[in-house]
Amino acid sequence: MKLLLDTSDVHAIKRIAKMFPIWGITTNPAIVAAGGVQLFDLLPAIRDALGGEGTLFAQVISSSVEGMIEDAHKLNERVENLVVKVPVTPKGLQVIKELTKQGIPTLATSVYGAAQGLLGVLAGAKYVSPYVSRIDAQGGDGAQTVSELQCLLSTHAPDKELVAASFKSPRQALECMLIGCKGITLPVNIFDLFISDPAVAVAVDQFVENWGKAFHTDCL
Ligand code: E4P
Repeated sequence: MKLLLDTSDVHAIKRIAKMFPIWGITTNPAIVAAGGVQLFDLLPAIRDALGGEGTLFAQVISSSVEGMIEDAHKLNERVENLVVKVPVTPKGLQVIKELTKQGIPTLATSVYGAAQGLLGVLAGAKYVSPYVSRIDAQGGDGAQTVSELQCLLSTHAPDKELVAASFKSPRQALECMLIGCKGITLPVNIFDLFISDPAVAVAVDQFVENWGKAFHTDCL
């Protein structure tokens, strides 16, 4: 399974990269805007934070077909190992189809429905991101949409990859993992919540205390 972080927080990426092999980093215009660092300054800093490795994902900004293609070219020319995120809209599909013809890898984003996601990959995108928490917030079932999309991919586009996105709670992410999601991008706070149960620290402290009492040392 590929685990990515959905963030522009370079310090958090550096911190987590020390303890975990992060496969890649996703951003979108809102995530970049929240960090306040321009994309072409941010992306090299993220790559450094990952120790020079990892796949980066950045989204087109323009709303016209020509503008999105131009954005994609800028990203592709300036940053190595980068996948261009394109929303699955009528214009976005045109962009995905054209970029695929040009050999530029894309991720179909802003996906709220399984069939919409399938169209994104059939147009040429290598990756597709259903928006789990946003689907839930609409009264839908994000995990169910992920499961349906996964089923469509395995039947119709087995070489394409799902990267589930848009999480607001650890439970939403866990549900995607349970249904066998092969790729998932987590906000930093959710990654941290998976490993911050206070009971764990209590258990670990207890081990050290028991050892110390018996052998008068805190190491082997
Ligand atoms: C990532 O690729 C998506 O753009 C992101 O997960 C969307 O998250 P949000 O729904 O919290 O904005």
